[in-house]
Amino acid sequence: MFKKRSNYTLFAILAVMAMLFAACSPKATATPTTAPVATSEGTTATEMTTGFSVGVVLPTKDEPRWIQDETRFKDAFKAAGFDVQILFSQGNSAVEKANVESLISQGVKVIVICPQDATAAAAAAQEARDAGVKVISYDRLIRETPAVDYYVTFDSVSVGEAQGNYLIEKATGTGNPLYLYAGAASDNNAFLFFQGAWNVLQPKIADGTFVIKNSSEAVALQAKPTLTRDEMGKIIGQVTTDWKFDVAKNLAEANLTAASAADKGNVFILAPNDGTARSIADTFAADKAVTSYVITGQDAEEASIQYIIDGKQSMTVLKDVRTLVADAITAAVAYLNGKTPDATTTYNNGVIDVPAKPSAVVTVDKSNVKAAVIDSGYWPAADFTGLQ
Ligand code: BGC
Repeated sequence: MFKKRSNYTLFAILAVMAMLFAACSPKATATPTTAPVATSEGTTATEMTTGFSVGVVLPTKDEPRWIQDETRFKDAFKAAGFDVQILFSQGNSAVEKANVESLISQGVKVIVICPQDATAAAAAAQEARDAGVKVISYDRLIRETPAVDYYVTFDSVSVGEAQGNYLIEKATGTGNPLYLYAGAASDNNAFLFFQGAWNVLQPKIADGTFVIKNSSEAVALQAKPTLTRDEMGKIIGQVTTDWKFDVAKNLAEANLTAASAADKGNVFILAPNDGTARSIADTFAADKAVTSYVITGQDAEEASIQYIIDGKQSMTVLKDVRTLVADAITAAVAYLNGKTPDATTTYNNGVIDVPAKPSAVVTVDKSNVKAAVIDSGYWPAADFTGLQ
């Protein structure tokens, strides 16, 4: 369940973090160094930085989700009186590796990495490990390496379950057309989201509530309540958006071109996140044979909150990035103090079980958007029109 954190609690956390940082970070008087940073084009530029102990590497500036993380990281580190360098990989694992190497060479003690490609990031993580740097996998799990110390994440299976459950709640009768879309196969989360959605949707496909319209692989597996990673991989391979808006749009267009009018009408769409949901929703809305659609999302991106207010996207899953950032900083501080961050579970990355403390998520639709997203202070009301 979503818990609102009071300003006082937030202030207290930040004050404690500031004290811990003061106790353990290198003196901010360290000689300024020049460091390569990824620009929005994915090339490297030079920027002045001061001494710091923690570096953050995020996947791309092309998606609002990661700009959000950058802003919230900056706010939290600034409030803690601590310098951090945040680099972007721009969808390129080679840039990601160069960013990690740059941070290592500047003497950081902890690197927070959200991998562009789960497996490709293993080499960079190993380099950090070899240099004695702690590696925190952020939001996405780095796979196929023992060189991951901790995983800061939301409960991604529950994200998929929230999406699937929303479609189920809105469906009546049988034979409802269901269109499935997934994230990038190079992102471990795409599997966790799909797994969660399948957990709840499969019984409703088996009982005839839904009929899958755009994946022969999913149809071939529809009698199986639990899928292996390979089986999920087959479906994802057919319905992946690659987390890209244009790929999502083209795929939705292709699916609608292939579908007959009888496969349309009142449709149900599992869209993996907000960016792809907006593309897919626009495409379905433009098809005259689609009379209504229910579509999922995740991230509570501002553009999708506006879509929800306007009735163009049905729901999103709020993953409060403030919590994730606070968890990452808490874990980094623990390592800087020679301690180990708290874990409540582990995630297998193909080689080891990585300790983690996943955070809860909240389903948001028109009925609770004001309470969950505005009143909680997540986004300012002034950024939206038509709010009641
Ligand atoms: C994140 C989502 C995000 C997606 C695309 C996933 O790993 O968990 O929040 O929308 O990547 O960037």
